Amino acid sequence: MPAQQELSPLPTTRQNIAAVDISRVGKTYHSGSTSQRVLDDLNLRVERGQFVVILGRSGSGKSTLLNLLGAMDRPTTGRININGVEIGEMGDRERTLLRRTSLGFIFQAYNLIPTLSVLENVQLPLALNGIDDDSTAIRLLDELGLANKLDASAEDLSGGEQQRVAIARALIHTPSLILADEPTGNLDVDTGREIIRLIDNLVRRNGQTLIMATHSQEVIGYADRVVTIRDQHLVDA
Ligand SMILES: Nc1ncnc2c1ncn2[C@@H]1O[C@H](COP(=O)(O)OP(=O)(O)OP(=O)(O)O)[C@@H](O)[C@H]1O
Ligand SMILES: [Mg+2]
Repeated sequence: MPAQQELSPLPTTRQNIAAVDISRVGKTYHSGSTSQRVLDDLNLRVERGQFVVILGRSGSGKSTLLNLLGAMDRPTTGRININGVEIGEMGDRERTLLRRTSLGFIFQAYNLIPTLSVLENVQLPLALNGIDDDSTAIRLLDELGLANKLDASAEDLSGGEQQRVAIARALIHTPSLILADEPTGNLDVDTGREIIRLIDNLVRRNGQTLIMATHSQEVIGYADRVVTIRDQHLVDA
């Protein structure tokens, strides 16, 4: 082999691209004449397929960080790289496309559309991507124990059922990165435990990356890594 080729760098493969790689990220909110620095100089690299838990007291900036990672808000300083792409350089349309194709969101308040049926709620991300197929949604809802609720209105479900629908909606388009913000915050302990087990199972089976903000110590047992936001900084717990 010619010397020149021996010296050339190894080609970049998908394996060594981090799911998330942020550096020196800061976020300051401004309202009127006051400003509040919430995050300062955050660095975090999350490998593909990892489950990372973010802890921190109320108001420490967990949701702020998830909003930045989910391209829903922009940092004041620093850069955010998702799947090898700098999202700071993306325009709004590209960011919307990234959210629709590569990201899945699970919220504490479920955020289902109450007037739509269970099946319609879950199909929504596919519909937004121009895919008209209900077989994947039906299979996923079946796995989540909701086969008998496909046509029910989302507003008629219990909290645990609504969160299972929200999980299906977050996973239906097989996003590579799932961001979950206190997904068990409104549920009783047993239901919360079941929800975490379901999310962990589905996400690991598909090799997806999961970043979850939580107050629940119990969730830590499922995580590959636990970080804490403290005094605006990110520290390994
Ligand atoms: N859009 C906003 N504009 C101004 N300030 C905000 C905004 N969003 C959050 N904040 C402030 O930033 C701080 C961090 O809020 P954030 O919601 O990220 O905390 P959190 O860790 O998620 O808290 P919790 O555990 O209660 O959900 C809080 O003081 C909050 O008031
Ligand atoms: Mg929060």
